[in-house]
Amino acid sequence: MRILVTGGAGYIASHTAVSLLDRGHQPVLLDNFCNSKPAVLDRIEALTRQRPTLLKMDVRDTDAVARALREHDCQAVIHFAALKAVGESVEKPLAYYENNIQGTLSLLAAMRSSGVKTLVFSSSATVYSADQPMPLREDGLLGTSSPYGRTKLMVENILADVAAADKTLSFTSLRYFNPVGAHPSGTMGEDPRGIPNNLMPFVAQVAVGRLPRLRVFGNDYPTVDGTGMRDYIHVCDLAEGHVSALNHAHGRAGWHVFNLGTGQGTSVMQVLQAFSLACGRELPYEVVPRRSGDVAACWADPHHAESTLGWRASRTLEMMCADAWRWQSANPMGYPD
Ligand code: NAD
Ligand code: UD1
Repeated sequence: MRILVTGGAGYIASHTAVSLLDRGHQPVLLDNFCNSKPAVLDRIEALTRQRPTLLKMDVRDTDAVARALREHDCQAVIHFAALKAVGESVEKPLAYYENNIQGTLSLLAAMRSSGVKTLVFSSSATVYSADQPMPLREDGLLGTSSPYGRTKLMVENILADVAAADKTLSFTSLRYFNPVGAHPSGTMGEDPRGIPNNLMPFVAQVAVGRLPRLRVFGNDYPTVDGTGMRDYIHVCDLAEGHVSALNHAHGRAGWHVFNLGTGQGTSVMQVLQAFSLACGRELPYEVVPRRSGDVAACWADPHHAESTLGWRASRTLEMMCADAWRWQSANPMGYPD
């Protein structure tokens, strides 16, 4: 299949591109590089011996996207392009609504005008309401507290409505839990701008000496050791989940929703310990007050993806940390400009 991948130079999309190429698909990557660098293309080529097309384009440019879909004869789209920092979304909600909602509407218009009917969308566990027992199932209570989270939930609602109105469309939402790790080669990984908000890239930067110590946000949660628990999933497992979702979607009209997680909760201290083992030294940390908006625990029920897509995450926490460390230590400043 030829697949347009929006946000194609980003962290999850670049790993997905490798999985697609490995399975004989032809991704066409589209990115405006607001949170990524074109250098990732060399890394994809080195791993796969194929150099996919990379278009510098904003997903909100409907005409250009429609042209790209036609010129490259795409049969499906995976829509990763979005802004994703929760804190920033509180400061700049309009930028988030404009990029994430308008971006999706523009993409849908481009797909309609070029006759592309299959879409896989990057959603998030953040669409689930915090007050419910774990693990989270796809039919769990929805509700989210940040503008970023609302853009994901709004897009899901838009896609469900559009797919309900046109029975020829196949739309899939993938609700990612906490993607971490890197390609096992150490040549591709997460390259956040500025100080990372998320745990694993922060720990990786402590390990490589870019940051002095981890601040553990609270150790008084009702969890195994008092620190927050999350469902960390290796980015390569997540990438393979997209290939499975695409295979399932092809020729199967309707609205489909899947959790992509491991089904296992891991605490902040457990991540820190695993990363210390991976990098071979104790990593400094201090416990500070809880981060506002954080929940005690969040993990997936992954059975729907397992039974319907035939996909399940297989990589361990040790592999997530070892691969993240290989990437971070070989590329301490991320991708070159
Ligand atoms: P990322 O920032 O690395 O990738 C997003 C890419 O989209 C970037 O390359 C960016 O330059 C591009 N982009 C943004 N707006 C664009 C626009 N208007 N036009 C063209 N390109 C644009 O982020 P990621 O972690 O790879 O996340 C990918 C998707 O997965 C996002 O939709 C994100 O919300 C979602 N998601 C991520 C996580 C996570 O923890 N990383 C969790 C749940 C969901
Ligand atoms: C974050 C987002 C969420 C998104 C998810 C997936 C916030 C508030 N939420 O959630 O919307 O869907 O990523 O990527 O940003 N921690 C520390 N110290 C740190 C960083 C994190 O102790 O420096 C702790 C957190 O308190 C949490 C755990 O580590 O318990 C994981 O945090 P993080 O990686 O930011 O992910 P989420 O909180 O799940």
